[in-house]
Amino acid sequence: MSHQILIKPSGHTLTVKPEETILQAALREGVSLPYGCRNGSCGTCKGKIIQGKVDYGQHNEETLTEEEKLAGHALFCCALPLSELTIECHEVNATKDIEIKTLPSRVEKLNRITDNVMVISLRLPANQRLQFLAGQYIDILLKDGKRRSFSIANAPHDDEFLELHARNYPGGVFAEHVFSHMKEKDILRFEGPLGSFFLRDEPEDGNIIFVASGTGFAPIKSILEHVFHQENSRGNKRNMILYWGGRTKNELYMTDLVYQWQKEHDNFSFIPVLSEALPSDNWQGREGFVHDAVLQDFNSLENYQVYACGAPVMVEAAYHDFTNQRNLPKDGFFSDVFTPSTSNP
Ligand code: FES
Repeated sequence: MSHQILIKPSGHTLTVKPEETILQAALREGVSLPYGCRNGSCGTCKGKIIQGKVDYGQHNEETLTEEEKLAGHALFCCALPLSELTIECHEVNATKDIEIKTLPSRVEKLNRITDNVMVISLRLPANQRLQFLAGQYIDILLKDGKRRSFSIANAPHDDEFLELHARNYPGGVFAEHVFSHMKEKDILRFEGPLGSFFLRDEPEDGNIIFVASGTGFAPIKSILEHVFHQENSRGNKRNMILYWGGRTKNELYMTDLVYQWQKEHDNFSFIPVLSEALPSDNWQGREGFVHDAVLQDFNSLENYQVYACGAPVMVEAAYHDFTNQRNLPKDGFFSDVFTPSTSNP
């Protein structure tokens, strides 16, 4: 039997299906409750049951003691509702709410989807999950003490693996490692989640333009998959357009997926833009720089938010031209910059 849950103080509601924990329902419905291990060991998900009954589930007795249960606490990653519930819990909606961890991970899969782009799937240790906001990144910690930043390309609800998109470029030592030497089962240490490039909840009915160049698509993929997932459960729909630019067709490496989103979501549209299309690209679409395509299409961006990610020159030009020429509010522009050596400053 399903049970309704009211979360205080946010007022969000959840429907928990039979056999589902409170946290599983929250993740399915796109509500960000805090969590760490998701197996009753760490205590990050502990909250209060204000009204109703739960089965506390399998958990470490030291993480949730009998006294705590008597005081109304429960671990939401293990607790199964036995009735309608009102719970109290601080929802995660800002980076300060999330613990930054250093974790080992194993390369689960390497998928070279074009000559220049590798999709890396990382698996975390069995008792660990990484909570993050869609759009954030991690730093891979290299043996020589250097770091290499990668945006997380999967959405937070879909966190069995961490998906990274790595681009090969001349002189990139880590890129060269990824494309020439990295193999499945390699161990990588990383720190994360990091960064403040994530979707703001407000305004709930606002229009959003995403502008990506190259693998700047990765965090935008995470954000869009998160939004589509939330729409399924919450029903609110923001109008969203993705402009994705590359020099050649090859640089837009996941367009099948994006066209599929466009088919499935009438509030989403996609405009690919190439600046140096090859004759073999047989390109019929928009040409030029990606941010110029936005300028051509909009006389005013006054009522928009823009999320831009990719090469610094694109992000800087977008910020300058959108705010100066199209009245985009300065606090309506969010960006993440990829530079070859460090990326995501
Ligand atoms: S997430 Fe670790 S105890 Fe629930």
